[in-house]
This record gives sequence, structure tokens and C-alpha cells, in this order.
Amino acid sequence: MSEGDVPATLPVLQVDQLEVAYGARTAVAGISFDIRPGEIFGLLGPNGAGKTSTLSAIEGLLRPRSGFLLVDGLDVSEHPLEAKARLGVQLQTSSFQAELGIEQIVRLFAGLYGARLDRDQLRTALEQIGLGGELGRRFKQLSGGQQQRLALFIASVHEPRLLLLDEPTAGLDPQSRRQLWNRIEALRGEGRSILLTTHSMEEAQAVCDRVAIIDHGALVALATPAGLIEEYKFDPRVVQAAHGEVTLEDVFIGLTGSEIRD
Ligand SMILES: Nc1ncnc2c1ncn2[C@@H]1O[C@H](COP(=O)(O)OP(=O)(O)O)[C@@H](O)[C@H]1O
Ligand SMILES: [Mg+2]
Repeated sequence: MSEGDVPATLPVLQVDQLEVAYGARTAVAGISFDIRPGEIFGLLGPNGAGKTSTLSAIEGLLRPRSGFLLVDGLDVSEHPLEAKARLGVQLQTSSFQAELGIEQIVRLFAGLYGARLDRDQLRTALEQIGLGGELGRRFKQLSGGQQQRLALFIASVHEPRLLLLDEPTAGLDPQSRRQLWNRIEALRGEGRSILLTTHSMEEAQAVCDRVAIIDHGALVALATPAGLIEEYKFDPRVVQAAHGEVTLEDVFIGLTGSEIRD
């Protein structure tokens, strides 16, 4: 099936009763959600909730214990190559060869993904993400924000239908975070869908069309950020967490508890 045959209403990703385990330890205990075309979807949860495990299963890095994963209607276990070709991935810790130059890194991955990119296109693209003057630099010489923007660019170089971004803004200063949000929104504007994880509720509220809160491998709530606030603003756990007007963070703390997870 070519991309043009995909009905506009078909979810880009369908996660159905997904279970992921490491030996006897269950990390994801049967979660389901869909991602629609052109949607930025946030997967939220405390440390250890199962976010990275969920992404790893979608990426094909971990085989689910049970459940179904469909990318553009294609079952990932039956059509792994076709499914993967539609995905762009930024891992939680993305580190490229520290000694390679930026241009070399981009060319390496563009080549692996089968994406064509001539020198002018490469320059223009790097200028767009504020790396125009850094072409000859090595990866390790870039700032954290520059590294994350490069990682996002590389994840999207083959124009995937769905981008999977694991904590893309972790450790960034506010300016770099805003730039990355802008890039993520620009990618949505180009018709891509995005599944991201974040610990920043401010970020989720600002950029996500819908969010799912997961805890201990299970889905706790799923709606638009405004919808979640509306639904839970009178919940006693949420009221107790709030300081003034209820925010998404108050809902998150109310539903997942205030106990620290390491
Ligand atoms: N490689 C692994 N081996 C065993 N347990 C793991 C492994 N990776 C993650 N886990 C466990 O699975 C659960 C979910 O982890 P993870 O998906 O990394 O959560 P999150 O990304 O939400 O912080 C945690 O209890 C974690 O300790
Ligand atoms: Mg994680």
C-alpha cells in the first residue's frame, strides 16, 4: 500500500492492550491509545511509569509480551520494515559519534534512511535549525540545545509519518526548549504526527493536542490538556495538589501521587 492510499481518518499509530515485560517484571501492563494524523501526543508519567518501554516496543527495539501495534494500519510484528520506514526516532539519550562532524553525521543517517539530501538542501536545513554556522563542528562541540535540534532533524530527515521523541527537551534552558517546541510544531505543520514524552507539564499543556498519563505501566487518564483539567479540577486529590487555578501539573500530581520516584 502506498502512502497515498492511507485514508485520512486512519490513526497513524494504534496501540492496543500493549504489554511489555523484562523477564518477570512488567513495565507496561496493557495500555491502549491512538495517534491521529497531524497530532502532537504527549505520554506523561513519573520515572519508571513505562514511557520509554512503550516507545521501545513501537520502535521495534523490544518485543511486546502481548497486544497490537499498528503504524498506518500496518501491524509492526508482521511488517516490521514497512512500519519502521514510517517512523523517525529520537532516543532518550541520543548521542552520535562525538568525533564526527555535523555534516558527516547528517549524511550518514540520511544515507541509512535512504533520504536524498544535496549540499544546498543540507545547508538550508541546518540554517533553519540554527546550525548554519556549525557545519564543520564535531558533535561533542555543540551545546545541549544544538545537539537536541540536530537529533530531531536527523529523526525527521526521511520525512516519517510519525516521530517518536523520548524526553526531547530534557536538560535544556528555556530558550533552547522554546526553539525545540517551535521545530516540533513546524514538523506537525509539515503533516507529521508526534509522540513525545516529557516531565514538563508546562510543555505538555503548551504543545500537546492530547496527553495520556500513565503510571505503573497503566493508563490513568487520556484527553486534551484542557479536557483533563476540566474533568479533574474538582477531584479532591487534584484540589489538594493545586495552588490556585488548577493546572495540568496539579492533575498529574493528583492522579499519580506526590511520592518521589527514582
Ligand atoms: N532493561 C530493563 N531491564 C529491567 N527492567 C527495566 C529495564 N528498563 C526499564 N525497566 C523497568 O521497567 C519499568 C519502566 O521503565 P521505563 O519504561 O524506562 O519508564 P520511564 O521511561 O517512564 O521512566 C521500570 O520499573 C524500570 O525499572
Ligand atoms: Mg524513560
